[in-house]
Amino acid sequence: MLRDDIVKELEENRGVPLSGQYLADKYNVSRNAVWKTVNALKKSGYVIVSGKNSGYYLAEGNDIISEQGIRYFLGSDDNELPIKVYDVIDSTNNEAKRLMISDDVSRMLLVANQQTAGRGRLGRNFYSPADSGIYMSLIYRVPGGVKNPMMITMAAAVAVVRAIEKLTDIRPGIKWVNDIFVGDKKVCGILSEAVTDLETGMAENIVVGIGINMKKSNFPEELRSIASSLYAEDVTRNHMIAEVTNNLIELFGSFDAEIFMPEYISHNIVVGKRVGFERIASGKTVQKAGSDDGADKASSDGRQLMNAVPVYEKVYGTVKEVCSDGALLVVSDDGTEERIFTGEIKMR
Ligand code: BTN
Repeated sequence: MLRDDIVKELEENRGVPLSGQYLADKYNVSRNAVWKTVNALKKSGYVIVSGKNSGYYLAEGNDIISEQGIRYFLGSDDNELPIKVYDVIDSTNNEAKRLMISDDVSRMLLVANQQTAGRGRLGRNFYSPADSGIYMSLIYRVPGGVKNPMMITMAAAVAVVRAIEKLTDIRPGIKWVNDIFVGDKKVCGILSEAVTDLETGMAENIVVGIGINMKKSNFPEELRSIASSLYAEDVTRNHMIAEVTNNLIELFGSFDAEIFMPEYISHNIVVGKRVGFERIASGKTVQKAGSDDGADKASSDGRQLMNAVPVYEKVYGTVKEVCSDGALLVVSDDGTEERIFTGEIKMR
């Protein structure tokens, strides 16, 4: 398609004016067809400079996400990676899971300019406005699977940190388990989801969803004290997406925790901090009417099914260490040492 060819030329030649004649000859079309396509691109938001007799080039401030723009920065090993770019979608993670089921997709990058139902961990929403953030999901099949799914998120956090450090002067921190912070505010969240083989317990088909607040954005009141952005106005989202993807593919290629865990640990901002978390109160459960699938319903003979549901208690303590197996070692206020593997900590 001429539109895709011209976007590719403009992305690959940022700052270099390309004449209408050059593009027309290269793609065997008329100069008028080139002119029309450039105008259509401008209408859809591309900032293209076109002076009289000077040719066309992308303005520095152009930050439209495109497959061609991402591909330009991808490593040569990743060139075969299928990429889908959406202007608006409910959630790239939702779409990734739909594609994994309907089309048996085993590797693909999905990116959106905006999400209408962006999802965070623990059933939360992820604020995903247009034009300022990166919302990406990588579908990746790990042959043989991953034994400890927590490691997927940890590798992804390292992939994001590496990309931010390469493209900006920012030194981000990681808040166990999956948040990237700048100062005391969150700038990026990661939601990893996996289809696990029930026989082996291994996670083989994974979706890693990453949301980065990249540019200046008007956060809603309730997020302003906890979330911020990278304010990386001079880095294009295409470049950041490609850099994160290069890192993800490199780290997932070997899935060697000895490579990424030292980086994960050294970037953590939680060691020595007072935190609150929830643990299952030992031996305590409540009986709750319901069935195994969570839906409350009576059994066929009319009796209510009763499930033992654990009772959680709030615990406070100080983080001692992020362990090399990903666990968080916390000394709780009653003096006991806890190794936490799931859930979330709140820094106090
Ligand atoms: C969190 O902070 O709890 C995780 C946020 C993950 C957000 C990303 S944006 C791309 C992908 N699609 C989603 O719906 N969620 C993830």
